[in-house]
Amino acid sequence: MIPKPDYGIDAPPVVRALSISGILFCAASSKGFSSSSYSLTTAYIFLIAGLLFITLALLMLYSSKSGKLKQRDRLIDSLSIKGNETIVDLGCGKGLLLIAAAKKLTSGKAIGIDIWKDTDLSKNNPDTTNRNAMLENVAERVEVKTADMRDLPFDDESIDIIVASMALHNIKNKEERKKALQEINRVLKPEGKIAIMDFKHTDEYVTALKEMGRRNVVLSGLKFGMFPPVRIVSVNCKYNPRPKGHPLC
Ligand SMILES: C[S@@+](CC[C@H](N)C(=O)[O-])C[C@H]1O[C@@H](n2cnc3c(N)ncnc32)[C@H](O)[C@@H]1O
Repeated sequence: MIPKPDYGIDAPPVVRALSISGILFCAASSKGFSSSSYSLTTAYIFLIAGLLFITLALLMLYSSKSGKLKQRDRLIDSLSIKGNETIVDLGCGKGLLLIAAAKKLTSGKAIGIDIWKDTDLSKNNPDTTNRNAMLENVAERVEVKTADMRDLPFDDESIDIIVASMALHNIKNKEERKKALQEINRVLKPEGKIAIMDFKHTDEYVTALKEMGRRNVVLSGLKFGMFPPVRIVSVNCKYNPRPKGHPLC
């Protein structure tokens, strides 16, 4: 059997906690229905809570395995990659955006940086990313580095395109996230492109990038193909914006 690339599961501890809680609540509810341990109302509440947790876990699994891949394709298409660019994927994990971007290159380079936290992505390590790049036949266009997005190992104004998927929110502190955005602004060429996909803090990214003087900063509407639903913050690319009139458009 030909091995397939594996892009992992986002936030595995959250998926695990939701699944276990769901199973425990369902088990507790069945005890309520089959004996008189507690009232029927309590048993129904446990059942609803259990089913809700299991549904959320399944939605997160679907998102990692399918929804995210479809959203990735739209994001990469919006960049209109010519082929000779240097593209950086921040928090590249197993290479979801990195490898899709590399497929559009002819002479350019796609560089992924990460600190490989396995609480953010299952079995997260650079060997898997390089293996995925090999399986997708783009290994020669891909480079993987260990680096923190708050201290990027690139010269000022040296990068054409910067992308990130579900990565910036993993920096918990607002000031620290701002450092990552300042690094993006430092290394990106003046007319460079940005596409950041995330499920929270996207308003904050828009405001910071505008304050840094970036033009054509656009925030997309919610994309429900992923769970939690995401927005895309884009600079100089053709991502469909929020409806006209929104204060951040
Ligand atoms: C949810 S995973 C997403 C991975 C990949 N972008 C994807 O969409 O499949 C978040 C990634 O961000 C990385 N990460 C978290 N904080 C980071 C930081 N400060 N600098 C670089 N990478 C970071 C984690 O190690 C992880 O690989």
